[in-house]
Parts: sequence; C-alpha cells; structure tokens
Amino acid sequence: MSANQPATPSANEPPGAPAVTRLSRYTTTDQDEILGSGEDPFGVAEAGLTWLPKEEHFGVRLDGRLVAHAGLLRLSVAVEGEKTEVMGVGGVAVAPGVRGRGLARLVLAAALDHARTQGPRHALLFCRPPLVPLYQRLGWHPLDTDVLVEQPGSRVVTMPLRTMVTPLHDDAHWPPGRVRLHSLPM
Ligand SMILES: CC(C)(COP(=O)(O)OP(=O)(O)OC[C@H]1O[C@@H](n2cnc3c(N)ncnc32)[C@H](O)[C@@H]1OP(=O)(O)O)[C@@H](O)C(=O)NCCC(=O)NCCS
Repeated sequence: MSANQPATPSANEPPGAPAVTRLSRYTTTDQDEILGSGEDPFGVAEAGLTWLPKEEHFGVRLDGRLVAHAGLLRLSVAVEGEKTEVMGVGGVAVAPGVRGRGLARLVLAAALDHARTQGPRHALLFCRPPLVPLYQRLGWHPLDTDVLVEQPGSRVVTMPLRTMVTPLHDDAHWPPGRVRLHSLPM
C-alpha cells in the first residue's frame, strides 16, 4: 500500500464508516489538528519519558480535517531473554469533538491490518491505566509483568504506564516472562 492511499477496508469495518488513509507523514501540526496544541495531550508527561516517533501513519479525515491517527513502528524486544520483534502502536488520537464514535477502533483496525503483513506476531502499546478497558474492548491484553525500556543516556527504566499486546496472527500467544524493549518506547 503506498502512502496517502486509502488503507484496505478492515474486515470489521462497518458499512458507511469513514475511510482510513495511509498518511505519508505525520507532523506535530497534524497532531495539533487532532488534539489541539495543549501541553500534554496524551496525559503522559508525568512519566517523564522520551518517546520514538512512529514510522507508518494511518489517519481519518472528516470534511478535510484530520480527526484520528494511529502510528506503527517495528521494534526489537526480548521476552525472558528471547529476542523477537513486535509492531509498536502509538500516537493513537481522536479529536475531542468526534470521540465515542468508533474512530479509534477504525484507525487501529487499519493499522493492525497493515501490521499483520509485516512479520511480527504481536502488536504492543503503552497506555495510561484508565485506557486499559478501552483497549481490552478492542482485543488487547494487559501484561502483568515489568517492562523495561531504554531512555537517553544508556538508561534502562521500568515503564510506568501499562503495556498491552494483541496477537497479529491466530496462532500467536504472548509468552510469559520479563519484557525488555531494546529501544526507546514508541
Ligand atoms: C483514547 C481515544 C483515542 C479513544 O478514541 P475514541 O474514538 O473515542 O474511541 P472509540 O469510539 O473507537 O472507542 C473504542 C471502543 O472502546 C470502548 N470504550 C470507550 N471507553 C471505554 C471504557 N472506559 N471502558 C470500556 N470500553 C470503552 C468504546 O465503546 C468502543 O468500543 P465499541 O466500538 O465496541 O463500542 C481518545 O479518547 C483520545 O484521543 N484521547 C486522547 C489521546 C490519548 O490518550 N490517546 C491514547 C494513547 S495510548
């Protein structure tokens, strides 16, 4: 799929749902268009973490305005010392005026459809604890283990947010054990 092309409609997409588009880029201006230019639109500043930008971007426009986004980034992780890769999901955002209409579900479904073609067997995201039930509703599972992530200055810290995973293939099962991300979080 090339950039700025409609993403393939997800199998779960309701008829008449707005189109999800693969975005060729996603800037802070684009994010501001969705969430406004507030100090801490994701509510994670307290965690004091440095985050990686995402590499692939999916968006929904309504009347020409970008109103929803989800980003993807392939990441190396180790689970109980066993190296693997995951599709990191981040930057999930829906404009305040159009929340509760299924746009996060829609844009995530398109991002995960693409993630399924990339090889890794799971997607992984970090979220604030109040969002765990929302992501569970969308088929994600919280991990009940510490997750270590890298930070600038060769530091490795325990992720203070919740970590959630979802299988990208029917036969994928997240293995038990300690999780270490070999990068900044996304
Ligand atoms: C989090 C956010 C992306 C959700 O967007 P949204 O478009 O309102 O979400 P949706 O309407 O697609 O809802 C997704 C599902 O979660 C469900 N849901 C919403 N709140 C829920 C809750 N508290 N408990 C359980 N399920 C919940 C919805 O009912 C829906 O399920 P359904 O389609 O089966 O009805 C949006 O509130 C946002 O942008 N917040 C600010 C930025 C942010 O914090 N992003 C998350 C980064 S991890």
